[in-house]
Amino acid sequence: MNEYIEIKPDYGNWVSSKLLYVTSVLGLVFLGLSFWKPGFLFPASFFLLAFGYFLYARHQFSPHGGDLQNRIRNLVLEYLEWDGNRTALDIGCGNGPLVIRLAKKYPHARITGVDYWGEAWDYSQGECERNAGIEGVSEQVLFEKASASKLPYKDESFDAVVSNFVFHEVADTKDKTQLIREALRVLKKGGAFSFQDLFQVKKLYGDMDELLLKLQSWGIESVELVKTNELEFIPKALKLPFMVGEIGILHGKK
Ligand SMILES: C[S@@+](CC[C@H](N)C(=O)[O-])C[C@H]1O[C@@H](n2cnc3c(N)ncnc32)[C@H](O)[C@@H]1O
Repeated sequence: MNEYIEIKPDYGNWVSSKLLYVTSVLGLVFLGLSFWKPGFLFPASFFLLAFGYFLYARHQFSPHGGDLQNRIRNLVLEYLEWDGNRTALDIGCGNGPLVIRLAKKYPHARITGVDYWGEAWDYSQGECERNAGIEGVSEQVLFEKASASKLPYKDESFDAVVSNFVFHEVADTKDKTQLIREALRVLKKGGAFSFQDLFQVKKLYGDMDELLLKLQSWGIESVELVKTNELEFIPKALKLPFMVGEIGILHGKK
């Protein structure tokens, strides 16, 4: 009897396994301590509830559950007004899902993905390359280690630039608008961009109207901000500010 094992790409999960591990271990440790001092029941309940919530979120994000990661990521491409000619860059590519999707959608394009692949996440360059091989697009893609805060490319290098759910994570840049500026620096004049992030969080980006004015003052030809958090397919429980409750897409032409 022939048995076929289907090899599937692994695009990871925005709720990292480390987060589940930490919340569950802390919950159980405090639960143990509560037998000694009942006051520890409070932190035990907090961490066990957090663990339950993150487990639910991980399932919703996964392709085996609500497939939310894919649905949210696809929005970035939906808003990218690009003809697929020449080159594109994905900033903070994780395990490469957007890079690979762009390569499949635009078979004549060359797509680069950059990420700093820090320890906080379950992503890696090797996993990106493996996924590209499984999806049959290895010849079209390139993955490089770099930080979103200082991209190793000359001004106006790419015809399109995308990024999904990354800028808020960049630890070495407090003013997140500088990350937008850096992303737009490497985009050619007239090129297309589509970035999804927590653009509605004032602490990160300031007022949304002022953000749009700022981009216009940098000479950007057209820009629009879409409140993707309002889409109905996102469950209410995940619309909390620290999850995807304040996401938006900033898209346009340079
Ligand atoms: C929520 S994940 C999103 C990954 C991917 N864009 C996706 O749609 O699955 C955030 C990503 O940001 C990356 N990241 C964090 N800080 C970064 C930095 N300074 N430069 C580049 N990437 C960074 C992380 O390594 C991680 O891959």
